[in-house]
Amino acid sequence: MSKCLICQALCEPFISFGKMPIANGFLTKEKFENEYFFEMKVAFCKNCGMVQLVEQPEKEKMFNENYAFFSGTSKNMAIHFKEFADHVVKDYIASKNPFVVEIGSNDGIMLQNFAAQKIRHLGIEPSANVAKVAIDKGINTISEFFDGELARKIVKKHGQADAFLAANVMCHIPYLHSVVEGIKILLKSDGIAMFEDPYLGDFIENTTYDQIYDEHVFLFSLFSIRYLFEQHEMELIDVEPQETHGGSMRYVIAHRGARPVSKNVFSQLEKEKKLGLDKEITYDNFRKNCEESRDALMSLLKDIKKQGKRIVGYAATSKSTTVINYCGITTEHLEFISDTTPIKQGKTSPGAHIPVRPYQEFLNNYPEYALLFAYNHSKEIMAKEKGFMSSGGKWIVYVPKVQVLK
Ligand code: SAH
Ligand code: TYD
Repeated sequence: MSKCLICQALCEPFISFGKMPIANGFLTKEKFENEYFFEMKVAFCKNCGMVQLVEQPEKEKMFNENYAFFSGTSKNMAIHFKEFADHVVKDYIASKNPFVVEIGSNDGIMLQNFAAQKIRHLGIEPSANVAKVAIDKGINTISEFFDGELARKIVKKHGQADAFLAANVMCHIPYLHSVVEGIKILLKSDGIAMFEDPYLGDFIENTTYDQIYDEHVFLFSLFSIRYLFEQHEMELIDVEPQETHGGSMRYVIAHRGARPVSKNVFSQLEKEKKLGLDKEITYDNFRKNCEESRDALMSLLKDIKKQGKRIVGYAATSKSTTVINYCGITTEHLEFISDTTPIKQGKTSPGAHIPVRPYQEFLNNYPEYALLFAYNHSKEIMAKEKGFMSSGGKWIVYVPKVQVLK
């Protein structure tokens, strides 16, 4: 039993993935001996609906000057964040000299769109190396962790904000009450908060268990987000489903009573009920689906290797750390993992220590099979990998089910 990070009720884990390393902790040989592991168990809180990690590494272990995830590695995500920024400006910002704050702003993939329009902005990004990329692009960024205390300092220095934005970072922060308190302090009376994260509904429907790793403390639903913000007299006023990261949800929040609540909120809450997101049995079934997926993937990889064929992992994503270590994938199955991020290349994957090599090596010597770890970028990847496919190369995917793509 553990205490819910949101409502303090006791909750029971429904799955353990076993010992897991830091998902973005790509490492060289000398570091193998001291590699950090934690027990990755996930619990569902019957009271407030929050799905959460029971144990999580300290934040500085994950977010520091060696952070390996650079948002700009996906062209489609750059388009996605331009559309997000345009939507905020067009539909939510009315004041003359607006101020926009984004947390987890990374290399500036979202804020660059505000900077280009000369809109006052501030990025909060604790991982100093990715923050530097943004600063070098002329995007105002401070390298700190956001919480209630930092919000007070920002208001003192810059005044209140018209918009608070966050993408794929709210679900990373265990001390969410302090973050929400900060949002409340930061926002003008008619200000809005918009954030998006992988969605619990998609996770359950598609068994995307790889969305669970050290950084992802929470999997949000409308139910749990509404509960959290209600504790701080704030209101969920709209939701916008997104295709990113294998299925995400964007939440729009305002001060209580400040704006009308869209009917989208009620219809999506109904869908959550139908999906059974409020029932323990749903999570028991999810665990069984994970086990089936794991067994199917391992027997497929073993079969292919028996035939003497080469398999290369495509994209050393954070998500792949969960898949590789939970399923027991090793260098016996994968020759290497191809990735475009320089900081990951020449290192090995966390836990299983599979070499990560530059993308060029994949291009220069196509394997028979590629295990697609970045299925969330499928469209972008399929468009650029026509050469691999016309050479007879085949894709192995595991979401929503294990299969070799025809
Ligand atoms: N928004 C980007 C980056 C997501 S990765 C995108 O969607 O592509 C999550 C980012 O949040 C990392 O860059 C990490 O350093 C940052 N982060 C983690 N905890 C944070 C906190 N408490 N406050 C602000 N940023 C945080
Ligand atoms: P993403 O799914 O965004 O990662 P995460 O699971 O960490 O959120 O994928 C980003 C990683 O995938 C990054 O290491 C770069 C790599 N990548 C490629 O190697 N090739 C590609 O074409 C794309 C889109 C990503």
